[in-house]
Amino acid sequence: MSTEHSYILVTGGTGFIGSFTVLQLIERGFKVVVIDNLVNSSTEPLQRIKKLANLKEDIIFHKVDLLKVSEVESIFEKYKFYGVIHFAALKAVGESVYKPLKYYENNISGTINLLKVMEAHAVKNIVFSSSATVYKQSVEGKGLLESDDLGCVNPYGRTKLFMESIITDVADSQVGWTGVLLRYFNPTGAHPTGEMGEDPLQIPNNLMPYVSQVAVGKLEKVHVFGSDYNTHDGTGVRDYIHVVDLARAHVLAMEKIQKTASDEKSQVLTYNLGSGTGYSVLEMIKAMSKACKHDIPYVMDPRRKGDVDTVICNPALAEKELGFKVELDLTAMCTDLWKWHKIQKWNV
Ligand code: WQD
Repeated sequence: MSTEHSYILVTGGTGFIGSFTVLQLIERGFKVVVIDNLVNSSTEPLQRIKKLANLKEDIIFHKVDLLKVSEVESIFEKYKFYGVIHFAALKAVGESVYKPLKYYENNISGTINLLKVMEAHAVKNIVFSSSATVYKQSVEGKGLLESDDLGCVNPYGRTKLFMESIITDVADSQVGWTGVLLRYFNPTGAHPTGEMGEDPLQIPNNLMPYVSQVAVGKLEKVHVFGSDYNTHDGTGVRDYIHVVDLARAHVLAMEKIQKTASDEKSQVLTYNLGSGTGYSVLEMIKAMSKACKHDIPYVMDPRRKGDVDTVICNPALAEKELGFKVELDLTAMCTDLWKWHKIQKWNV
């Protein structure tokens, strides 16, 4: 079935990565339906997308909780879908340690409900938002391969691993399914216009939203979690990827499905999405200082529980099979972040 008379369903489409992916799907000519339960976001990004994509019509949005299967069913009865891009999930690693059942119910039961309704409506194409957190541990200095050992150190990561396995088992149980599992490394950045970005409702857990809020003066100083890691400057090294690059990879994944889906067989493809280059916490603070043209205060704190020295990917498979390679570098990530946070600060 072509996408000509059908839609792409984006679950969690008002979230950070989801909203950037909706924008690029629309810019690439796809018709999109967005659902979200708005527990961690608002519909504001949809207005930003409408402006950035220069749309006359509103983006089709329905407030849907994947835990309410009747709500999911009503969406599939209303629209004909070519495929689904599934972002909807709780994603705070720290919170998942203290509230595992909330994460297992929301992330896994929600995914099971989605897949059941997809199956009932013969919608068999899915791009899934997974995470580098599913890997056991980065081999020192070696970029992680999709074939490397899996194993998680927190409930959030386990939900991602279980969701990957559930999608794979459904595809293996019948013909006609095409799944693409995208394992993100560290998403950051904002729209180059500064008109859209990550807008955490609470104090950010992740490094770059926190550094950005210190840069605009909303927070006092950055707490560097650990200075005794086995890295070149003792602070944690991660593989950061610009959210605009990350969103483009999702469109390439859906286009890969269009080219390769078959009624006679099922397949599940897995790709790391990162640059393959690692930057330390201190290097990220320095890069943001350069972007905002002033020092960013920080203090060295003890390590954060569960953190490891280095997590970087080997991006070769996504380049070979998806034609995906990052295009936006560290300067772009920090410049765009700074633009977004400056606009945000003055709009409050
Ligand atoms: C990056 C580096 C910290 C905050 C997590 C999830 C992963 C994915 C991305 C969802 C580390 C250090 C951080 C701070 C710091 N999320 N740090 N001070 O932990 O690599 O990955 O987010 O899929 O699943 O695990 O990202 O941004 O939290 O940390 O020093 O205030 O910055 O120790 O070295 P992480 P992060």
